[in-house]
Amino acid sequence: MANESMLPIGQRRDVLQTIGGLTGLAVVGSTATVGADDNDGDEGSQVYDATENGRYALPELPYEYGALEPHIDERIMELHHSEHHQGYVDGANDALDAFEEMRSDSNFEDIKAVKRDFSFNLSGHVNHTIFWQNMSPDGGGAPDGEFRSALEDQFGSFEAFQNEFSTAAENVESNGWAMLFYEPIADLLVIGQVESQNGLAHQGAIPILTLDVWEHAYYLQYENERASYIEEWWNVVDWTDVCQRYEFLTQTRANEVSEDGADGNETDN
Ligand SMILES: [Fe+2]
Repeated sequence: MANESMLPIGQRRDVLQTIGGLTGLAVVGSTATVGADDNDGDEGSQVYDATENGRYALPELPYEYGALEPHIDERIMELHHSEHHQGYVDGANDALDAFEEMRSDSNFEDIKAVKRDFSFNLSGHVNHTIFWQNMSPDGGGAPDGEFRSALEDQFGSFEAFQNEFSTAAENVESNGWAMLFYEPIADLLVIGQVESQNGLAHQGAIPILTLDVWEHAYYLQYENERASYIEEWWNVVDWTDVCQRYEFLTQTRANEVSEDGADGNETDN
Protein backbone atom coordinates (compact mmCIF):
# COMPACT_ATOMS: atom_id res chain seq x y z
CA MET A 1 0.00 0.00 0.00
CA ALA A 2 1.39 3.37 -1.00
CA ASN A 3 2.25 5.90 1.61
CA GLU A 4 -0.89 8.04 1.84
CA SER A 5 1.04 11.30 1.76
CA MET A 6 2.50 10.35 -1.63
CA LEU A 7 -0.88 9.81 -3.27
CA PRO A 8 -2.27 12.34 -5.76
CA ILE A 9 -4.63 14.84 -4.18
CA GLY A 10 -7.72 13.10 -5.54
CA GLN A 11 -6.68 9.82 -4.05
CA ARG A 12 -5.83 11.33 -0.72
CA ARG A 13 -9.35 12.74 -0.61
CA ASP A 14 -10.67 9.25 -1.40
CA VAL A 15 -8.75 7.74 1.48
CA LEU A 16 -10.11 10.35 3.88
CA GLN A 17 -13.64 9.73 2.61
CA THR A 18 -13.08 6.03 3.12
CA ILE A 19 -12.07 6.56 6.72
CA GLY A 20 -15.21 8.54 7.40
CA GLY A 21 -17.41 6.01 5.68
CA LEU A 22 -15.88 3.05 7.39
CA THR A 23 -16.06 4.62 10.79
CA GLY A 24 -19.67 5.61 10.49
CA LEU A 25 -20.83 2.39 8.96
CA ALA A 26 -18.94 -0.15 10.87
CA VAL A 27 -18.02 0.80 14.40
CA VAL A 28 -20.99 -0.87 16.01
CA GLY A 29 -23.18 -2.44 13.43
CA SER A 30 -21.14 -4.15 10.76
CA THR A 31 -22.65 -7.49 11.62
CA ALA A 32 -26.05 -6.01 11.00
CA THR A 33 -24.96 -5.10 7.50
CA VAL A 34 -22.93 -8.06 6.40
CA GLY A 35 -24.55 -10.75 8.50
CA ALA A 36 -28.15 -10.29 7.41
CA ASP A 37 -28.18 -13.82 6.05
CA ASP A 38 -26.28 -15.15 9.01
CA ASN A 39 -26.02 -18.76 9.94
CA ASP A 40 -28.33 -19.13 12.88
CA GLY A 41 -31.60 -18.72 11.02
CA ASP A 42 -32.93 -16.36 13.65
CA GLU A 43 -33.74 -13.28 11.64
CA GLY A 44 -32.48 -10.14 13.23
CA SER A 45 -30.69 -11.83 16.09
CA GLN A 46 -27.37 -10.26 15.10
CA VAL A 47 -28.82 -6.88 14.27
CA TYR A 48 -27.70 -4.67 17.05
CA ASP A 49 -29.58 -1.51 17.65
CA ALA A 50 -27.28 0.30 20.02
CA THR A 51 -29.33 3.47 19.74
CA GLU A 52 -32.99 4.23 20.30
CA ASN A 53 -34.69 7.47 19.31
CA GLY A 54 -31.43 9.33 19.23
CA ARG A 55 -30.32 7.93 22.58
CA TYR A 56 -27.87 5.16 23.32
CA ALA A 57 -29.45 1.85 24.27
CA LEU A 58 -28.19 -1.38 25.79
CA PRO A 59 -28.15 -4.07 23.06
CA GLU A 60 -29.42 -7.55 23.77
CA LEU A 61 -26.82 -10.29 23.95
CA PRO A 62 -26.97 -12.83 21.11
CA TYR A 63 -26.79 -15.65 23.70
CA GLU A 64 -27.80 -16.37 27.29
CA TYR A 65 -25.68 -15.10 30.18
CA GLY A 66 -24.55 -18.64 30.96
CA ALA A 67 -23.86 -19.64 27.36
CA LEU A 68 -20.12 -18.95 27.50
CA GLU A 69 -19.48 -21.19 30.50
CA PRO A 70 -17.16 -22.71 31.53
CA HIS A 71 -14.92 -20.10 29.98
CA ILE A 72 -16.81 -17.06 31.29
CA ASP A 73 -19.08 -17.44 34.28
CA GLU A 74 -22.80 -16.62 34.01
CA ARG A 75 -22.73 -14.16 36.93
CA ILE A 76 -19.85 -12.26 35.36
CA MET A 77 -21.77 -11.93 32.11
CA GLU A 78 -24.94 -10.82 33.87
CA LEU A 79 -23.23 -8.13 35.93
CA HIS A 80 -21.00 -7.09 33.07
CA HIS A 81 -23.88 -6.60 30.64
CA SER A 82 -26.76 -5.46 32.83
CA GLU A 83 -24.78 -3.29 35.24
CA HIS A 84 -21.47 -2.23 33.75
CA HIS A 85 -22.48 -1.85 30.12
CA GLN A 86 -25.74 -0.23 31.19
CA GLY A 87 -23.69 2.24 33.18
CA TYR A 88 -21.79 3.34 30.07
CA VAL A 89 -25.06 3.72 28.16
CA ASP A 90 -26.53 5.83 30.97
CA GLY A 91 -23.37 7.89 31.27
CA ALA A 92 -23.33 8.65 27.55
CA ASN A 93 -26.98 9.71 27.63
CA ASP A 94 -26.38 11.84 30.74
CA ALA A 95 -23.62 13.62 28.84
CA LEU A 96 -26.02 14.28 25.96
CA ASP A 97 -28.44 15.83 28.44
CA ALA A 98 -25.64 17.93 29.90
CA PHE A 99 -24.71 19.19 26.44
CA GLU A 100 -28.31 20.26 25.87
CA GLU A 101 -28.44 22.00 29.22
CA MET A 102 -25.18 23.84 28.63
CA ARG A 103 -26.43 25.05 25.25
CA SER A 104 -29.81 26.14 26.53
CA ASP A 105 -28.17 28.01 29.43
CA SER A 106 -25.30 29.29 27.30
CA ASN A 107 -23.09 28.19 30.18
CA PHE A 108 -20.14 26.01 29.23
CA GLU A 109 -18.10 26.16 32.41
CA ASP A 110 -18.39 22.36 32.83
CA ILE A 111 -17.59 21.53 29.25
CA LYS A 112 -14.25 19.86 29.94
CA ALA A 113 -15.68 17.41 32.46
CA VAL A 114 -18.72 16.61 30.33
CA LYS A 115 -16.63 16.04 27.22
CA ARG A 116 -14.45 13.64 29.19
CA ASP A 117 -17.52 11.82 30.50
CA PHE A 118 -18.95 11.51 27.02
CA SER A 119 -15.73 10.19 25.53
CA PHE A 120 -15.32 7.62 28.31
CA ASN A 121 -18.92 6.39 28.33
CA LEU A 122 -19.54 6.33 24.59
CA SER A 123 -16.27 4.46 24.11
CA GLY A 124 -17.34 2.00 26.78
CA HIS A 125 -20.65 1.48 25.01
CA VAL A 126 -19.00 0.84 21.64
CA ASN A 127 -16.26 -1.38 23.07
CA HIS A 128 -18.73 -3.61 24.90
CA THR A 129 -21.18 -3.80 22.01
CA ILE A 130 -18.43 -5.19 19.78
CA PHE A 131 -17.12 -7.42 22.58
CA TRP A 132 -20.46 -9.24 22.98
CA GLN A 133 -20.71 -9.82 19.24
CA ASN A 134 -17.12 -11.06 19.09
CA MET A 135 -18.03 -14.01 21.32
CA SER A 136 -20.17 -17.09 20.83
CA PRO A 137 -20.78 -20.39 22.63
CA ASP A 138 -19.78 -21.94 19.29
CA GLY A 139 -16.57 -19.92 19.13
CA GLY A 140 -12.94 -20.87 19.36
CA GLY A 141 -10.64 -22.47 16.83
CA ALA A 142 -9.11 -20.31 14.16
CA PRO A 143 -10.28 -18.05 11.33
CA ASP A 144 -9.89 -18.80 7.66
CA GLY A 145 -10.20 -17.02 4.34
CA GLU A 146 -8.85 -13.56 3.58
CA PHE A 147 -8.71 -12.59 7.22
CA ARG A 148 -6.54 -15.58 8.05
CA SER A 149 -4.24 -14.70 5.17
CA ALA A 150 -3.99 -11.10 6.37
CA LEU A 151 -3.06 -12.26 9.87
CA GLU A 152 -0.38 -14.55 8.46
CA ASP A 153 1.00 -11.82 6.19
CA GLN A 154 1.29 -9.33 9.01
CA PHE A 155 2.12 -11.40 12.05
CA GLY A 156 3.80 -14.45 10.50
CA SER A 157 1.18 -16.97 11.59
CA PHE A 158 -2.14 -17.16 13.39
CA GLU A 159 -0.34 -18.45 16.46
CA ALA A 160 2.07 -15.53 16.39
CA PHE A 161 -0.88 -13.14 16.19
CA GLN A 162 -2.53 -14.85 19.15
CA ASN A 163 0.66 -14.64 21.17
CA GLU A 164 1.11 -10.93 20.43
CA PHE A 165 -2.55 -10.17 21.18
CA SER A 166 -2.49 -12.14 24.45
CA THR A 167 0.73 -10.47 25.55
CA ALA A 168 -0.73 -7.06 24.77
CA ALA A 169 -3.85 -7.95 26.79
CA GLU A 170 -1.87 -9.23 29.76
CA ASN A 171 0.16 -6.01 29.86
CA VAL A 172 -2.58 -3.42 29.56
CA GLU A 173 -1.91 -0.91 32.31
CA SER A 174 -4.61 -1.29 34.96
CA ASN A 175 -8.11 -1.57 33.47
CA GLY A 176 -8.51 -1.55 29.71
CA TRP A 177 -8.71 -3.58 26.54
CA ALA A 178 -6.69 -5.38 23.93
CA MET A 179 -8.07 -4.78 20.46
CA LEU A 180 -7.38 -5.71 16.89
CA PHE A 181 -8.02 -2.70 14.68
CA TYR A 182 -8.40 -2.37 10.95
CA GLU A 183 -6.44 0.71 9.91
CA PRO A 184 -7.78 1.82 6.52
CA ILE A 185 -5.14 4.32 5.45
CA ALA A 186 -2.43 1.70 5.08
CA ASP A 187 -4.81 -1.29 4.90
CA LEU A 188 -3.27 -2.77 8.02
CA LEU A 189 -4.29 -4.82 11.03
CA VAL A 190 -3.06 -3.24 14.26
CA ILE A 191 -3.03 -4.74 17.76
CA GLY A 192 -3.68 -2.03 20.30
CA GLN A 193 -3.78 -1.61 24.04
CA VAL A 194 -6.64 0.63 25.12
CA GLU A 195 -6.30 2.08 28.59
CA SER A 196 -9.58 2.59 30.43
CA GLN A 197 -12.19 2.83 27.64
CA ASN A 198 -10.60 5.42 25.38
CA GLY A 199 -6.90 5.80 26.06
CA LEU A 200 -4.14 5.27 23.47
CA ALA A 201 -6.56 5.74 20.58
CA HIS A 202 -5.65 5.14 16.95
CA GLN A 203 -7.81 7.77 15.28
CA GLY A 204 -9.54 6.36 12.22
CA ALA A 205 -8.71 2.75 13.03
CA ILE A 206 -11.74 0.55 13.63
CA PRO A 207 -11.86 -2.24 16.23
CA ILE A 208 -12.88 -5.63 14.86
CA LEU A 209 -11.89 -7.78 17.86
CA THR A 210 -12.09 -6.48 21.43
CA LEU A 211 -11.06 -8.15 24.67
CA ASP A 212 -12.12 -6.55 27.93
CA VAL A 213 -9.43 -6.93 30.60
CA TRP A 214 -11.06 -4.71 33.20
CA GLU A 215 -11.21 -6.66 36.44
CA HIS A 216 -15.01 -6.63 36.26
CA ALA A 217 -14.66 -8.90 33.19
CA TYR A 218 -12.94 -11.76 35.01
CA TYR A 219 -12.21 -11.23 38.72
CA LEU A 220 -15.19 -13.19 40.09
CA GLN A 221 -13.97 -16.30 38.28
CA TYR A 222 -10.25 -15.86 37.75
CA GLU A 223 -9.39 -13.48 40.63
CA ASN A 224 -6.08 -11.85 39.73
CA GLU A 225 -5.14 -14.40 37.05
CA ARG A 226 -5.69 -12.21 34.01
CA ALA A 227 -3.56 -14.51 31.84
CA SER A 228 -5.79 -17.49 32.61
CA TYR A 229 -8.89 -15.52 31.63
CA ILE A 230 -7.26 -14.50 28.35
CA GLU A 231 -6.28 -18.09 27.58
CA GLU A 232 -9.86 -19.27 28.18
CA TRP A 233 -11.35 -16.37 26.21
CA TRP A 234 -9.87 -17.65 22.96
CA ASN A 235 -12.31 -20.57 23.27
CA VAL A 236 -15.31 -18.28 22.79
CA VAL A 237 -14.04 -15.95 20.06
CA ASP A 238 -16.52 -15.90 17.20
CA TRP A 239 -14.22 -15.81 14.18
CA THR A 240 -17.21 -15.64 11.85
CA ASP A 241 -18.09 -12.26 13.32
CA VAL A 242 -14.50 -11.01 13.21
CA CYS A 243 -14.04 -12.18 9.60
CA GLN A 244 -17.28 -10.47 8.58
CA ARG A 245 -16.10 -7.20 10.07
CA TYR A 246 -12.73 -7.47 8.33
CA GLU A 247 -14.25 -8.37 4.97
CA PHE A 248 -16.83 -5.60 5.20
CA LEU A 249 -14.19 -2.98 5.96
CA THR A 250 -11.67 -4.11 3.35
CA GLN A 251 -14.38 -4.45 0.72
CA THR A 252 -15.81 -1.03 1.51
CA ARG A 253 -12.36 0.47 1.28
CA ALA A 254 -11.66 -1.28 -2.02
CA ASN A 255 -14.98 -0.14 -3.49
CA GLU A 256 -14.52 3.47 -2.44
CA VAL A 257 -10.96 3.70 -3.65
CA SER A 258 -11.66 1.98 -7.00
CA GLU A 259 -14.71 4.12 -7.69
CA ASP A 260 -12.49 7.16 -8.04
CA GLY A 261 -9.59 5.65 -9.96
CA ALA A 262 -7.32 4.58 -7.17
CA ASP A 263 -4.70 3.00 -9.39
CA GLY A 264 -4.37 5.70 -11.98
CA ASN A 265 -2.46 8.93 -12.15
CA GLU A 266 -5.24 10.38 -14.24
CA THR A 267 -7.36 11.28 -11.23
CA ASP A 268 -8.41 14.85 -10.76
CA ASN A 269 -6.80 17.26 -8.41
FE1 LIG B 1 -16.30 -4.25 30.67
